[in-house]
Amino acid sequence: MRQARRLTVLTGAGVSAESGVPTFREARTGLWAKYRPEDLATPEAFQRNPKLVWEWYALRRQRVSVVAPNAGHRALVEFEGRVAVFTLITQNVDGLHQRAGSRRVLELHGNLTRTKCSREDRLVESWPETAEIPPRCPRCGGWLRPDVVWFGEALPGVTLAAATQASRACDLFISVGTSTVVQPAASLPYEALRHGAMVVEVNPNGTPLSGEANYRLPGLSGEVLPALLGAAFGPSAGP
Ligand code: APR
Repeated sequence: MRQARRLTVLTGAGVSAESGVPTFREARTGLWAKYRPEDLATPEAFQRNPKLVWEWYALRRQRVSVVAPNAGHRALVEFEGRVAVFTLITQNVDGLHQRAGSRRVLELHGNLTRTKCSREDRLVESWPETAEIPPRCPRCGGWLRPDVVWFGEALPGVTLAAATQASRACDLFISVGTSTVVQPAASLPYEALRHGAMVVEVNPNGTPLSGEANYRLPGLSGEVLPALLGAAFGPSAGP
Protein backbone atom coordinates (compact mmCIF):
# COMPACT_ATOMS: atom_id res chain seq x y z
CA MET A 1 0.00 0.00 0.00
CA ARG A 2 2.79 2.35 0.92
CA GLN A 3 4.54 1.80 -2.39
CA ALA A 4 1.40 1.94 -4.52
CA ARG A 5 1.41 4.86 -6.93
CA ARG A 6 -1.88 3.96 -8.52
CA LEU A 7 -4.60 2.38 -6.42
CA THR A 8 -7.96 1.35 -7.82
CA VAL A 9 -10.77 0.14 -5.54
CA LEU A 10 -13.96 -1.60 -6.66
CA THR A 11 -16.82 -1.69 -4.17
CA GLY A 12 -20.11 -3.57 -4.02
CA ALA A 13 -23.11 -3.98 -1.76
CA GLY A 14 -20.99 -5.41 1.08
CA VAL A 15 -19.41 -1.98 1.73
CA SER A 16 -22.84 -0.58 2.59
CA ALA A 17 -23.95 -3.64 4.59
CA GLU A 18 -22.61 -2.25 7.88
CA SER A 19 -24.60 0.96 7.26
CA GLY A 20 -27.74 -1.16 7.14
CA VAL A 21 -28.52 -0.66 3.45
CA PRO A 22 -30.52 -3.73 2.46
CA THR A 23 -29.39 -5.40 -0.75
CA PHE A 24 -31.85 -5.61 -3.60
CA ARG A 25 -32.79 -9.11 -2.48
CA GLU A 26 -33.11 -8.22 1.22
CA ALA A 27 -35.24 -5.16 0.48
CA ARG A 28 -37.96 -7.25 -1.12
CA THR A 29 -39.84 -7.97 2.07
CA GLY A 30 -43.51 -7.58 3.06
CA LEU A 31 -45.67 -6.34 0.23
CA TRP A 32 -42.70 -6.39 -2.11
CA ALA A 33 -41.79 -10.06 -1.54
CA LYS A 34 -44.04 -11.24 -4.34
CA TYR A 35 -42.16 -9.31 -7.01
CA ARG A 36 -39.15 -10.67 -8.85
CA PRO A 37 -36.17 -8.44 -9.80
CA GLU A 38 -37.42 -8.49 -13.38
CA ASP A 39 -40.75 -7.01 -12.16
CA LEU A 40 -38.97 -4.06 -10.53
CA ALA A 41 -35.65 -3.34 -12.18
CA THR A 42 -35.92 -3.74 -15.93
CA PRO A 43 -36.96 -1.33 -18.69
CA GLU A 44 -39.80 -3.72 -19.54
CA ALA A 45 -41.10 -3.59 -15.96
CA PHE A 46 -41.11 0.20 -16.12
CA GLN A 47 -43.01 0.17 -19.42
CA ARG A 48 -45.51 -2.30 -17.98
CA ASN A 49 -46.03 -0.70 -14.60
CA PRO A 50 -44.16 2.60 -14.13
CA LYS A 51 -46.04 3.40 -10.91
CA LEU A 52 -44.91 0.16 -9.24
CA VAL A 53 -41.28 0.68 -10.26
CA TRP A 54 -41.28 4.36 -9.17
CA GLU A 55 -42.73 3.44 -5.78
CA TRP A 56 -40.16 0.67 -5.29
CA TYR A 57 -37.34 3.14 -5.87
CA ALA A 58 -39.03 5.76 -3.71
CA LEU A 59 -38.91 3.22 -0.87
CA ARG A 60 -35.26 2.39 -1.49
CA ARG A 61 -34.40 6.12 -1.65
CA GLN A 62 -36.15 6.67 1.65
CA ARG A 63 -34.26 3.77 3.27
CA VAL A 64 -30.91 5.07 2.03
CA SER A 65 -31.70 8.60 3.27
CA VAL A 66 -31.94 7.42 6.88
CA VAL A 67 -28.64 5.52 7.05
CA ALA A 68 -25.10 6.89 7.35
CA PRO A 69 -21.76 6.01 5.77
CA ASN A 70 -19.63 3.62 7.85
CA ALA A 71 -15.93 3.26 8.74
CA GLY A 72 -15.25 1.45 5.46
CA HIS A 73 -16.57 4.38 3.40
CA ARG A 74 -14.55 6.79 5.54
CA ALA A 75 -11.31 4.83 5.15
CA LEU A 76 -11.74 5.07 1.37
CA VAL A 77 -11.97 8.85 1.67
CA GLU A 78 -8.58 8.78 3.43
CA PHE A 79 -7.05 6.62 0.70
CA GLU A 80 -8.05 9.25 -1.85
CA GLY A 81 -5.86 11.79 -0.10
CA ARG A 82 -2.84 9.54 0.42
CA VAL A 83 -2.20 7.74 -2.87
CA ALA A 84 -0.89 9.62 -5.91
CA VAL A 85 -3.54 8.29 -8.30
CA PHE A 86 -6.64 6.88 -6.67
CA THR A 87 -9.76 5.65 -8.45
CA LEU A 88 -12.91 4.55 -6.68
CA ILE A 89 -15.30 2.44 -8.74
CA THR A 90 -18.62 1.41 -7.22
CA GLN A 91 -21.52 -0.81 -8.20
CA ASN A 92 -23.60 0.74 -5.42
CA VAL A 93 -26.42 3.15 -6.20
CA ASP A 94 -26.81 4.49 -2.65
CA GLY A 95 -24.48 7.52 -2.89
CA LEU A 96 -22.85 6.67 0.47
CA HIS A 97 -19.30 7.09 -0.84
CA GLN A 98 -20.05 10.69 -1.76
CA ARG A 99 -21.85 11.32 1.52
CA ALA A 100 -18.73 10.03 3.35
CA GLY A 101 -16.65 12.57 1.42
CA SER A 102 -15.20 10.72 -1.58
CA ARG A 103 -14.91 13.33 -4.30
CA ARG A 104 -14.54 11.32 -7.47
CA VAL A 105 -16.60 8.14 -7.73
CA LEU A 106 -17.13 6.13 -10.90
CA GLU A 107 -20.70 4.89 -10.49
CA LEU A 108 -21.12 1.90 -12.78
CA HIS A 109 -24.79 1.32 -11.96
CA GLY A 110 -25.93 4.92 -11.47
CA ASN A 111 -27.36 6.49 -8.34
CA LEU A 112 -30.90 6.13 -7.04
CA THR A 113 -30.86 9.58 -5.49
CA ARG A 114 -30.76 11.06 -9.01
CA THR A 115 -33.73 11.20 -11.39
CA LYS A 116 -33.75 11.29 -15.16
CA CYS A 117 -36.26 11.56 -17.97
CA SER A 118 -37.04 8.14 -19.42
CA ARG A 119 -37.64 9.65 -22.85
CA GLU A 120 -34.73 12.08 -23.19
CA ASP A 121 -32.25 10.28 -20.88
CA ARG A 122 -31.43 13.66 -19.30
CA LEU A 123 -30.99 14.34 -15.57
CA VAL A 124 -33.89 16.23 -14.02
CA GLU A 125 -33.35 18.13 -10.74
CA SER A 126 -36.90 19.19 -9.95
CA TRP A 127 -40.41 18.77 -11.26
CA PRO A 128 -43.86 20.01 -10.39
CA GLU A 129 -45.56 17.79 -7.80
CA THR A 130 -48.85 16.46 -9.08
CA ALA A 131 -50.90 13.42 -8.12
CA GLU A 132 -49.40 11.52 -11.01
CA ILE A 133 -46.94 8.68 -10.30
CA PRO A 134 -44.36 8.63 -11.72
CA PRO A 135 -44.04 12.38 -12.15
CA ARG A 136 -43.56 13.81 -15.62
CA CYS A 137 -40.51 15.49 -17.12
CA PRO A 138 -41.10 19.25 -16.95
CA ARG A 139 -39.61 19.66 -20.44
CA CYS A 140 -41.04 16.85 -22.58
CA GLY A 141 -43.75 15.25 -20.45
CA GLY A 142 -42.05 11.82 -20.46
CA TRP A 143 -42.08 9.73 -17.30
CA LEU A 144 -39.32 10.34 -14.80
CA ARG A 145 -37.28 7.36 -13.58
CA PRO A 146 -34.33 6.73 -11.25
CA ASP A 147 -30.88 7.26 -12.78
CA VAL A 148 -29.86 3.64 -12.24
CA VAL A 149 -28.81 0.91 -14.64
CA TRP A 150 -31.52 -1.72 -14.83
CA PHE A 151 -30.97 -5.37 -15.73
CA GLY A 152 -30.59 -5.55 -19.49
CA GLU A 153 -29.45 -1.93 -19.85
CA ALA A 154 -26.00 -0.83 -20.94
CA LEU A 155 -23.66 0.72 -18.38
CA PRO A 156 -22.71 4.37 -18.92
CA GLY A 157 -20.01 4.05 -21.58
CA VAL A 158 -17.69 6.83 -20.46
CA THR A 159 -17.75 5.62 -16.84
CA LEU A 160 -17.09 2.00 -17.81
CA ALA A 161 -14.22 3.07 -20.07
CA ALA A 162 -12.66 5.10 -17.23
CA ALA A 163 -13.10 2.18 -14.81
CA THR A 164 -11.52 -0.28 -17.25
CA GLN A 165 -8.61 2.09 -17.87
CA ALA A 166 -8.05 2.61 -14.12
CA SER A 167 -8.11 -1.17 -13.58
CA ARG A 168 -5.53 -1.75 -16.31
CA ALA A 169 -3.22 1.07 -15.24
CA CYS A 170 -3.11 0.54 -11.45
CA ASP A 171 -0.39 -1.24 -9.49
CA LEU A 172 -2.72 -2.21 -6.64
CA PHE A 173 -6.41 -3.16 -7.02
CA ILE A 174 -8.67 -3.81 -4.04
CA SER A 175 -12.03 -5.50 -4.55
CA VAL A 176 -14.29 -4.90 -1.55
CA GLY A 177 -17.71 -6.29 -0.66
CA THR A 178 -18.67 -7.60 -4.06
CA SER A 179 -19.70 -11.11 -5.06
CA THR A 180 -17.77 -10.51 -8.33
CA VAL A 181 -20.38 -12.21 -10.47
CA VAL A 182 -22.32 -9.39 -12.16
CA GLN A 183 -20.68 -8.37 -15.43
CA PRO A 184 -19.05 -6.24 -16.64
CA ALA A 185 -17.94 -4.98 -13.19
CA ALA A 186 -16.80 -8.50 -12.25
CA SER A 187 -14.19 -8.43 -15.03
CA LEU A 188 -12.35 -5.39 -13.63
CA PRO A 189 -10.16 -7.22 -11.07
CA TYR A 190 -9.20 -9.68 -13.82
CA GLU A 191 -8.21 -6.75 -16.05
CA ALA A 192 -5.98 -5.56 -13.21
CA LEU A 193 -4.42 -9.03 -12.79
CA ARG A 194 -3.79 -9.38 -16.52
CA HIS A 195 -1.99 -6.04 -16.54
CA GLY A 196 0.30 -6.97 -13.67
CA ALA A 197 -1.37 -5.32 -10.67
CA MET A 198 -1.49 -6.89 -7.23
CA VAL A 199 -5.11 -7.75 -6.44
CA VAL A 200 -6.47 -7.89 -2.89
CA GLU A 201 -9.98 -9.03 -1.98
CA VAL A 202 -11.80 -7.86 1.16
CA ASN A 203 -14.86 -10.01 1.82
CA PRO A 204 -15.93 -12.26 4.71
CA ASN A 205 -17.06 -14.83 2.14
CA GLY A 206 -15.34 -16.45 -0.82
CA THR A 207 -16.12 -15.36 -4.37
CA PRO A 208 -15.01 -16.51 -7.83
CA LEU A 209 -12.15 -13.99 -7.48
CA SER A 210 -10.86 -15.46 -4.21
CA GLY A 211 -8.69 -18.13 -5.83
CA GLU A 212 -7.17 -15.63 -8.27
CA ALA A 213 -6.46 -12.66 -5.98
CA ASN A 214 -2.92 -12.27 -4.61
CA TYR A 215 -4.27 -11.68 -1.12
CA ARG A 216 -7.61 -12.32 0.52
CA LEU A 217 -8.57 -10.41 3.65
CA PRO A 218 -11.60 -12.25 5.01
CA GLY A 219 -13.43 -9.70 7.11
CA LEU A 220 -15.89 -6.84 7.17
CA SER A 221 -14.97 -3.78 5.12
CA GLY A 222 -15.74 -1.49 8.08
CA GLU A 223 -13.00 -3.26 10.03
CA VAL A 224 -10.50 -4.34 7.39
CA LEU A 225 -10.24 -1.04 5.46
CA PRO A 226 -9.49 1.14 8.53
CA ALA A 227 -6.96 -1.51 9.69
CA LEU A 228 -5.31 -1.46 6.26
CA LEU A 229 -5.18 2.32 6.36
CA GLY A 230 -3.59 2.31 9.82
CA ALA A 231 -1.08 -0.41 8.88
CA ALA A 232 0.01 1.45 5.76
CA PHE A 233 0.06 5.03 6.95
CA GLY A 234 0.38 4.80 10.75
CA PRO A 235 -2.11 4.72 13.63
CA SER A 236 -2.92 8.42 13.23
CA ALA A 237 -4.30 7.76 9.74
CA GLY A 238 -7.71 6.78 11.05
CA PRO A 239 -10.69 8.48 9.50
N1 APR B 1 -17.81 -6.27 4.25
C1 APR B 1 -17.35 -6.79 3.09
N2 APR B 1 -18.07 -7.61 2.31
C2 APR B 1 -19.29 -7.94 2.71
C3 APR B 1 -19.86 -7.44 3.90
C4 APR B 1 -19.07 -6.56 4.70
N3 APR B 1 -19.51 -6.03 5.83
N4 APR B 1 -21.12 -7.94 4.01
C5 APR B 1 -21.33 -8.71 2.94
N5 APR B 1 -20.24 -8.71 2.13
C6 APR B 1 -20.05 -9.37 0.85
C7 APR B 1 -20.81 -10.64 0.62
O1 APR B 1 -20.06 -11.76 1.08
C8 APR B 1 -20.97 -10.66 -0.90
O2 APR B 1 -19.87 -11.33 -1.53
O3 APR B 1 -20.54 -8.47 -0.13
C9 APR B 1 -20.93 -9.19 -1.29
C10 APR B 1 -22.26 -8.63 -1.77
O4 APR B 1 -22.63 -9.28 -2.96
P1 APR B 1 -23.89 -8.82 -3.84
O5 APR B 1 -25.08 -8.67 -2.94
O6 APR B 1 -23.95 -9.75 -4.98
O7 APR B 1 -23.51 -7.35 -4.28
P2 APR B 1 -22.68 -6.81 -5.52
O8 APR B 1 -21.48 -7.65 -5.79
O9 APR B 1 -22.49 -5.35 -5.28
O10 APR B 1 -23.73 -7.00 -6.70
C11 APR B 1 -23.46 -6.46 -7.95
O11 APR B 1 -25.69 -6.91 -8.74
O12 APR B 1 -27.69 -6.83 -7.57
C12 APR B 1 -26.98 -6.32 -8.66
O13 APR B 1 -26.84 -4.20 -9.67
C13 APR B 1 -26.78 -4.85 -8.42
O14 APR B 1 -24.80 -3.54 -8.17
C14 APR B 1 -25.37 -4.78 -7.88
C15 APR B 1 -24.68 -5.92 -8.61
